[in-house]
Amino acid sequence: MKRCSRRFFEIITVFPPMYPDRVLSGMRPTGALHLGHYHGALKNWVRLQSEVECLFMVADWHALTTAYDDPSIIARSTWDMVIDWLAAGIDPAQSTLFIQSRIPEHAELTLLMGMNTPLAWLERVPTYKDQIEKLSHKDLGTYGFLGYPLMQTADIVIYRANQVPVGEDQVPHIELSREIARRFNHMYGREPGFEAKAEAAVKKLGSKKSKLYDELRTRYLQHGDDEALEACRALLADTQNLSHGDRERLFGYIEGKGKMILSEPQPLLTINSKLPGLDGAKMSKSYGNYIALRETPENVSKKVRGMMTDPARARRTDAGDPEKCPVWQFHQIYSDDNTRDWVVQGCKSAGIGCLECKQPVIDAINAEQAPIIERAQPYLEDPTLVRNIVEDGCEKAKKLASETVRDVREAMGLGYN
Ligand code: TRP
Ligand code: SF4
Repeated sequence: MKRCSRRFFEIITVFPPMYPDRVLSGMRPTGALHLGHYHGALKNWVRLQSEVECLFMVADWHALTTAYDDPSIIARSTWDMVIDWLAAGIDPAQSTLFIQSRIPEHAELTLLMGMNTPLAWLERVPTYKDQIEKLSHKDLGTYGFLGYPLMQTADIVIYRANQVPVGEDQVPHIELSREIARRFNHMYGREPGFEAKAEAAVKKLGSKKSKLYDELRTRYLQHGDDEALEACRALLADTQNLSHGDRERLFGYIEGKGKMILSEPQPLLTINSKLPGLDGAKMSKSYGNYIALRETPENVSKKVRGMMTDPARARRTDAGDPEKCPVWQFHQIYSDDNTRDWVVQGCKSAGIGCLECKQPVIDAINAEQAPIIERAQPYLEDPTLVRNIVEDGCEKAKKLASETVRDVREAMGLGYN
């Protein structure tokens, strides 16, 4: 038993997964980031970057899918957004920061994957009909908007990323990405039933040769023995009575499975609790109910003091119920148990006033923002710092992306001269 488990351990340590974990996520440059972005995504990104390789993308083509009539928003928002990322703690020494449109390979992969992506898969993505209804002042009956989740798929698989931190609304997109990647791998990457066919081909070698093939293959797979790999290839080269297909299979099989071209990504749901807007609805720039990242302490104070509270507390002497108050949801994120007890007691007994209740929230937000504001300073003073970080990131991203696209071109029959 003991030997057996050690052996197993050996196999998995010699064999890392075909691709190591890699994270990709992105945001659309459509305006200033706010505390909703910070608690809903950025904080999570900062944590992830020290655990796995991370790439973070400015999704400017995605912004165009809905803001095609107001393209100036992209340039206005991109650099501020990258500064927000850096200020929040994204570390360019650990993460790769880049801009989608600087890597045209994303467009090529989107086009190529479009060839075998069923239209119905895109039409039934829940955000598709939702957004068309919600943004009814805009004509979103466009090819680009329908293709949005396909482009998102390309963003992910082009880096062979397998983990994608997103909010709940984006989960169907990542699921679609997995379906598309799987279909692609199935169609072009690995033939169906490859393993069974390879095993059958091994048997056709005859008992002596198949035993030797298995031994050499195991030596190569378990110990990385290159000599065994060479010997195994020589053995195949030496064997005449094999069909062309079986020969191909046996060559591939020595080194593991058939090649998996695209990663099959998983959503990484953000675990942080939700921070609502000042009015209790979702925090959003378009609702005007937000606190910006890097908001001045004066504005934070003004905005929180102006927040709605439980309508039952019209007068200071009226008792209230924290459950009916958006300020309470801020306490859930920003306050410790003691403060929260003080709020519940004081609110229900009219022992504290609403402005009094809001003060610890104001202080906590400002304490959270202080280092963020400070970290942004050098980037605001010298914008070339930001440009250089992004340029480095684009270079790294380009290299990874072009490798995947090269494989895809080949798999789709475009590797000819
Ligand atoms: N669609 C995402 C959003 O609106 C942004 C995005 C674009 C993205 N490409 C991505 C997120 C790839 C994760 C992975 O928020
Ligand atoms: Fe909201 Fe606090 Fe006022 Fe109660 S005391 S209504 S929790 S702001």
